[in-house]
Amino acid sequence: MNILLLGSGGREHALAWKIAQSPKVSKLYIAPGNGGTSNVGENVAIAADNFEAIGQFAIEKNISMVVVGPEDPLVKGIYDYFQDNEKLKNIPVIGPSKEGAQLEGSKDFAKAFMMRHGIPTAQYRSFTTETLNEGCKFLETLQAPYVLKADGLAAGKGVLIIDNLEEAKQELKNMLDGKFGSASATVVIEEFLSGIECSVFVLTDGENYKILPVAKDYKRIGEGDTGLNTGGMGSVSPVPFADKVFMQKVEERIVIPTIQGLKKEKICYKGFIFLGLINVKNEPMVIEYNVRMGDPETEAVMLRIKSDLVELFEGVANGNLNTKTLVEDERAAVTVMLVSGGYPEAYEKGKVITGAEDIKDSIVFHAGTKMVDGQLLTNGGRVIAVSSYGKDKEEALQQSFKNAQKINFDKKYFRSDIGRDLK
Ligand code: AMP
Ligand code: GLY
Repeated sequence: MNILLLGSGGREHALAWKIAQSPKVSKLYIAPGNGGTSNVGENVAIAADNFEAIGQFAIEKNISMVVVGPEDPLVKGIYDYFQDNEKLKNIPVIGPSKEGAQLEGSKDFAKAFMMRHGIPTAQYRSFTTETLNEGCKFLETLQAPYVLKADGLAAGKGVLIIDNLEEAKQELKNMLDGKFGSASATVVIEEFLSGIECSVFVLTDGENYKILPVAKDYKRIGEGDTGLNTGGMGSVSPVPFADKVFMQKVEERIVIPTIQGLKKEKICYKGFIFLGLINVKNEPMVIEYNVRMGDPETEAVMLRIKSDLVELFEGVANGNLNTKTLVEDERAAVTVMLVSGGYPEAYEKGKVITGAEDIKDSIVFHAGTKMVDGQLLTNGGRVIAVSSYGKDKEEALQQSFKNAQKINFDKKYFRSDIGRDLK
């Protein structure tokens, strides 16, 4: 069959790499893709949220399945766009409906959903300009630090964690005044939770589910988890503290109630659910839902799935995911992200990348790259994810760090402490 994958980051290269291994695939297209996805499929110059062009392309190329990488097209309703079109409705889209995508598109929606279904998460309240004063009073009832979240999508920047009460009140006002545009017209204020985080990925057909290998990502730019938040500087899988006992709690208290809740509320959801979890004294709590895979978690998680991913996707599309098997690779997998100097603030693009093709003992996933006249250039903040296997995380990390040194571009930076916080 022919598959169309939407997106252009490291996550999409990793998904493309895994999809391309399936004997079921005759042709894989990636729209728009990047300098690496063209090694495993064919890049198509269509933006991931240009539904009309995507629909036309799907018909023209006899596409049998659309796999959605990023959240943006999902929140904008690509699933519904296909469902509502006579010519497209028989092409399954792997991803939730617009309503289901609200689990990521609106933090207020996600929190209310968790409350309705008794899913463990931080206590919260939501505020708008009309209720600014109540918001300030609510802050006074909380202990520092204060967690303020823009309700809508804010490119991963919409969460502020503030130590000082007066500053928190000022930031609440700034957010409601449009600090993150319309995304912060509503602000969720929540209780601060203390613990270590991990990412759990669930694939569901709306009824049945599979829990994918657990990963941990490293969000801050600096070593020792310091400095600004980024899209993610690396990841490891498995996560030692996410053991059997912990994962049983996750399944019983979070995964099952989430899927049952969606079903009860008649919200159509056939795709990935990303649970951003925090381990509070061995009890899992939900920090956030995302409606897609994580980046750079995917660049480690895909290495740990032995089964045919396309067969699992077919289970999602046909509602018989329970008949499919998910076999995990016993080995550890990690990824180390090479980023442009200056990221996550201003950085330059167009730097020549050398050495990437020569790496044989790691898997080099491209994130922000593009090929111009046969030359590989940087084209984003996160440039390349160096993924490796190992008998344990140390062995895998050694491999990735070794190869991270061999790939070069001007002002390259990476964190050399990925995974070090885990036992
Ligand atoms: P989010 O975009 O909701 O994932 O938030 C970004 C980051 O802020 C999370 O990965 C956490 O590190 C942190 N965070 C969010 N909510 C809380 C909370 N209630 N308590 C502690 N940290 C939080
Ligand atoms: N790595 C976190 C995310 O993809 O949102």
